[in-house]
Amino acid sequence: MCGIVGYTGSGAKQAAPILLDSLSKLEYRGYDSAGMAVYDDETKSIQFQKTVGRLKGLYDRTHGGADLKGTCGIGHTRWATHGEPTEVNAHPHLNSKQTIAVVHNGIIENYLRWRKRLQDKGYIFKSDTDTEVIVQMLDYYYDGDPLKTITTVMQRLEGSYALGILFSDHAGEIYAARKDSPLIVGKADDAAFIASDVPAILSYTRNVYYMENEEVARLTPGAVEFFNIDEEPVQKEAVTVSWDIHAAEKGGYEYFMLKEIHEEPKAVSDTLNPRIRDGHVVIDELNMTDEEIRGIHKLFIVACGSAYHAGVTGKYVMEGLARIPVEVDIASEFRYRDPIIEEGDYVIIISQSGETADSLAALREAKKRGARTLGIINVVGSSIAREADNVMYTWAGPEIAVATTKAYQTQLIAMYLLSIRFAKARGKIDDAQEKALIDDLKALPEQIRMQLASKADIQKFANRYLAAEHVFFIGRGIDYAISLEGSLKLKEISYVHSEAYPAGELKHGTISLIEDGRLVVAVLTQPNLIKKEISNIVEVKSRGAFVMAVTTVGNTEVEKTADYVVYVPKTNPYFVNSLAVVPLQLFGYYVAIGRGLDVDKPRNLAKSVTVE
Ligand code: F6R
Repeated sequence: MCGIVGYTGSGAKQAAPILLDSLSKLEYRGYDSAGMAVYDDETKSIQFQKTVGRLKGLYDRTHGGADLKGTCGIGHTRWATHGEPTEVNAHPHLNSKQTIAVVHNGIIENYLRWRKRLQDKGYIFKSDTDTEVIVQMLDYYYDGDPLKTITTVMQRLEGSYALGILFSDHAGEIYAARKDSPLIVGKADDAAFIASDVPAILSYTRNVYYMENEEVARLTPGAVEFFNIDEEPVQKEAVTVSWDIHAAEKGGYEYFMLKEIHEEPKAVSDTLNPRIRDGHVVIDELNMTDEEIRGIHKLFIVACGSAYHAGVTGKYVMEGLARIPVEVDIASEFRYRDPIIEEGDYVIIISQSGETADSLAALREAKKRGARTLGIINVVGSSIAREADNVMYTWAGPEIAVATTKAYQTQLIAMYLLSIRFAKARGKIDDAQEKALIDDLKALPEQIRMQLASKADIQKFANRYLAAEHVFFIGRGIDYAISLEGSLKLKEISYVHSEAYPAGELKHGTISLIEDGRLVVAVLTQPNLIKKEISNIVEVKSRGAFVMAVTTVGNTEVEKTADYVVYVPKTNPYFVNSLAVVPLQLFGYYVAIGRGLDVDKPRNLAKSVTVE
């Protein structure tokens, strides 16, 4: 999704090179064009430049930013929603006098109405974007007071926005505003920054303010002020970001995705260890007594994409261990399906970014219906983290690659921990069983490391399937949940079509697609289901499929049927996803690498999906 940056400084440092550097830290969000606007003190005007494609184009066109002179500016990477990725549609957008410049992330829902109104008043629109209406509205209402004008426009906008705004008659000032799209403000001694995400400004400052909905910020070199939509000052505390910029750099790996897969053992330990105390699972942030946990009638787990897949696993584990009925929903479905939520229902939203528009809307829907809510979130201070009744953070650290790996792992861990905690409170497991489960959880980081040690074998196997056109993943129970994630990892980065099926369901139609040489990845780790799934492997084999199986050490009978077997270490069957997903992540990664693709920035995708 679009990325926003802004910089204003008092020294000799030029804004444009800093904007380019900050935008490069947001590339992971996905984009198709980029632009910058800088206030030029000599000509007393706003200068701008835009390009289609990668940031490198903007860099070259401005000679690394040197051509845009000035110490105050805003920048943008655009992920097209309204209108093609063209230079005209790229941000910043300016009014016709070029006295106001705007960068925007989000979607303005009532833009057509305003476009028409302003066109009737003689305004000429150049782009197809919803954003251009914002700058024209600012122009229409501008009376020399930026704060008043911005709040006037905010009151008329419907939809979501994070905005960076320059006014040429307010040199050295950047204005920022937000509603339902992420925006942070950074402050240094002689400079101030805005950005869609922390890594963009981490090389310059660690002092960060999280903007709330319907707030406006005024930035000047070394100072930031905040206001509500009624223009009243708002006092805010800066948060000191503790993680290092190196955590958001590649550290010698060719791609962030491979680096992040290698960080899984640490991410798992960091999420797990603080919640194990004296041999028990303790989740303080739930803020729930045993009695309250016993009072839960039903759980909803709501999320999108991989986070949804973690939720599917969570359902099996929670129902198996705690015996609470669980419904898992895709957030974009949940929010419109008029869900039946009753007293005693508990809604869990899983999200790495904490900004996914559908997940945020689902959270609000659940709250509106009276449910108690929990966010399982990776990005501290994100919208869902702030709006959920309680937050359980996953401590994966910054995840840059668009395809999630380590954050997904930590979402699984959060689900395991919750399941154990709920099972214990409901008397479904005793101390000894809790201890055995915890021992298995504690072994996971080392077992994931063992999986990573055999990555060369997976690469060799992946190289045989670079030309594959269709791949099927099958599994039963938790193995089906693992298949969903394995299939998504492959298709999103390698562009190989793949589908995941419950193994027993394939014969109800899809098996007609199995033909000679078709790759089928069968996940079979659940002891009570292995025999059943071996029968499914036989079914596809007899139609010509080549079968790669992922199973647990000791299940040697699988070798008699499958063509290629990957073994994962023994663990409690409820936790096996954490191990079995690793070779599947690596398989997707190496197929994409072998096909020469940009693994970290797959086409059409964005890291944080802040539009519906
Ligand atoms: C796939 C992937 C996406 C996200 C989904 C939800 O690799 O990363 O499917 O899982 O867009 O994002 P979050 O977790 O930020 O809500």
